[in-house]
Formats: sequence, C-alpha cells, structure tokens
Amino acid sequence: MIYLNNAATSYPKPLSVQDAMLDALQSSGGNPGRSVDSLTGKADDVVNHTRFLAAKMFGISNPNHVIFTSSATEALNIAILGTLKSGDHVITSTMEHNSVTRPLYHLETQEGVRVTKIPMDPIKGVDPDDIVAAITDDTKLVCLTHISNVTGTMNDIAEIGDICHKKNVRFLVDASQSAGTHPIHMDSMNIDLLAMPGHKGLMGPSGTGLLCIGDHVDPALLNPIKFGGTGVQSELPYQPIDLPFRYESGTLNVPGIAGLGAGIRFINETGMDNIFVHESFLMQMLLDWLSDIPSITIYGNLDATQKGAVLSINIDGMDPVDVAMILDTSFEIAVRPGLHCAPDAHRTIGTIDIGGTIRISPGYFTTAEEIHAFIDAMKEISE
Ligand SMILES: Cc1ncc(COP(=O)(O)O)c(C=O)c1O
Repeated sequence: MIYLNNAATSYPKPLSVQDAMLDALQSSGGNPGRSVDSLTGKADDVVNHTRFLAAKMFGISNPNHVIFTSSATEALNIAILGTLKSGDHVITSTMEHNSVTRPLYHLETQEGVRVTKIPMDPIKGVDPDDIVAAITDDTKLVCLTHISNVTGTMNDIAEIGDICHKKNVRFLVDASQSAGTHPIHMDSMNIDLLAMPGHKGLMGPSGTGLLCIGDHVDPALLNPIKFGGTGVQSELPYQPIDLPFRYESGTLNVPGIAGLGAGIRFINETGMDNIFVHESFLMQMLLDWLSDIPSITIYGNLDATQKGAVLSINIDGMDPVDVAMILDTSFEIAVRPGLHCAPDAHRTIGTIDIGGTIRISPGYFTTAEEIHAFIDAMKEISE
C-alpha cells in the first residue's frame, strides 16, 4: 500500500513510537498522579517527560502549560468554548476545519457570539490587514489555521500574532497540519493558545492531542469544558485553577503519551528541517508532474516551499470518490476524497458542489518512487 493520507493521520509510525507504547504498557502501568508507588512514579515520569519535550518544541517555558487531549478537536474546543461568552466577537477564516467552525457555530446560534469569517486566499492565505480591519472592542479571539488541511495554504501566524498582541486579543492557532514539520515558537510568535493532534506530524498514536497555553495566559480566564478527578486538590468542590489539572480531569492516556513523546524525540533526532525538506521535495514533484496532465486541476500554491505537504486536485468530470476508489482497488494507493471536514475551504476554492477534491498528503516515510507510482496511476486514470 502506498499511503498518501498523512494529513488524516501519519503512517507508519516510527518504530521507537511503537516500542515506547509497548514499554509503557509493560512497565509504566500506574495511573499518573494517583499514588506514591514506583509504578505510578514511572507513569508520572512518562507524562512529565512528554510535557517537557512539547514545551521545548513549541516555545513555552512552563511544561505544565502543555495539556494532553484526545485530539486536536478537543484542544480546539477547550480553547474556543473556554474563551468566548455571550456578546463576544471572534475572528476566523473561510478555510477552517469543522473542529473550529462547529464550536463557533454552536456559540453563534446558542450563545449570541458574533463570528466574522475573513476570506483566506487559497494561495496567499489571510491578509493580516483584514484582521486589523475586523477587530472591534468586543473581539476576544482570533482563531486561525496555520496550514489548510485542504490546499496546504499557509497563514503568516507570526505577523497575525503581532497584530493580536498589540490589540490585546487572544490568538488561537490550529497547528494540525504544521506541528512537527514547521517551526512554531509560541512566545516569539505571540501565540496564546496552540492546538494540535499528536497523531499527524508529531508521529504519535491516535487518541493524542495537545493544547499548549502561553506562559502568560491566566487559566482563570480560560474555562474548562470537562470537570472531575485530577488526583490533586481533591478537597476542592470546584475544578482546580492550577495547570495542567484544570483541563485534564480523568485518567490520562499513558501509552499514547509515551508514543507521542517518542514521536517528538524522533523529530528532534531527525531534524524538523530535514523532515520539511523531504516532504517539500515530494510535494514539488507532485506539483510539477501533475501540472503536465491537462485534465487535472490543482488548487492552491504551485510552490512547495510556500505551502504544507497537502495537495488538493481533481480530474475533469470525475467524482473524487471514484478516483480514490480506483487508486485503492487498482493501484493500492491511499488518498482521501471529499470535503475533508472543511466545507468552508471547498466553498472558498469552488469545489463544494462537485464533491470536494482528491487530497494527496505525503509524509516523512513516503519515497520518491511512491510519488512516481502515484503520478503514473493518475496519468492512466485521467486517460
Ligand atoms: C486543520 C485541522 N484541524 C483540526 C483537525 C482535527 O484533528 P483531530 O482529528 O486530531 O481532532 C484536523 C484533522 O484533520 C485538521 O486537519
């Protein structure tokens, strides 16, 4: 199987990730924070080490500001629902994932939150001047994707972070398609909240995600969305304010967190820049070769260095699902067809009424030979 669906989840996972998960199951079987025995201590160590690695990777000094979640979706829900209340205004873009648009739709229709969607250009991204123009006295949050999961389009998050910082508006970045491949430094980029999956670019397993909270963000001003046992401050009737406990009720996914830590170590050892260079090289191959097939439409930027490793295309007159099924059954190639949980992005690129696109997303373990095989398959199908 040639796997070109890394934007959904990365595959395969490094062997060190698999080993770390097995080791956690075999020798770190305690429940972190729930006792004083050595098995619990080992589970604590696994969790604390991954927190430390994530804090270092994303430019925050306090590892307790790294919150473990089950997915990017949960991290985004904490950040969005925890920040906004009735009467607030939020700015977002026209190319967000449903993990952003659905919580915002809920707040808009149920709580009277005002939502402004700034146009995101499929090639250039959001124009920072549009953010400046949209900010009002009521604006409490700017919430943007770093890289579109449909077209790979990139936003200039450092410049937009600077604007939010100057206007004193909280800045939430959805790093689902950039964490692990693009350097993100929360402090120097003025990012207040950073949400991401652990199971894509960070190479961790399914069921992992992170919400990184800026060192300066006051947890009293970010409400939790789930409440319960934290293993500490059990005498309190209310949810503790202290991090990470405020947002981590319930038993943590220790094997998953062990795998996520090993994924981050793998990236550190390999070099994030080497991962980017490899994926970008494969993406440029795709862009150059697919551009030569007349019946193929490519959406977004044709320069791989200016985008993430996510590409949307269509073959004239063919349903994306049919193409994906032919790729699977006749060529053993996995891609993703459809709307990719981001209908607004398809409204933006004009593919909402034609069943979306065929999305191709190579990863670090994809080879040039596999890209060649994919291009040959696309030539054959389009002929
Ligand atoms: C841009 C973006 N945001 C959010 C998500 C949701 O991630 P998860 O499946 O980890 O909740 C995805 C996953 O496809 C994504 O691509």
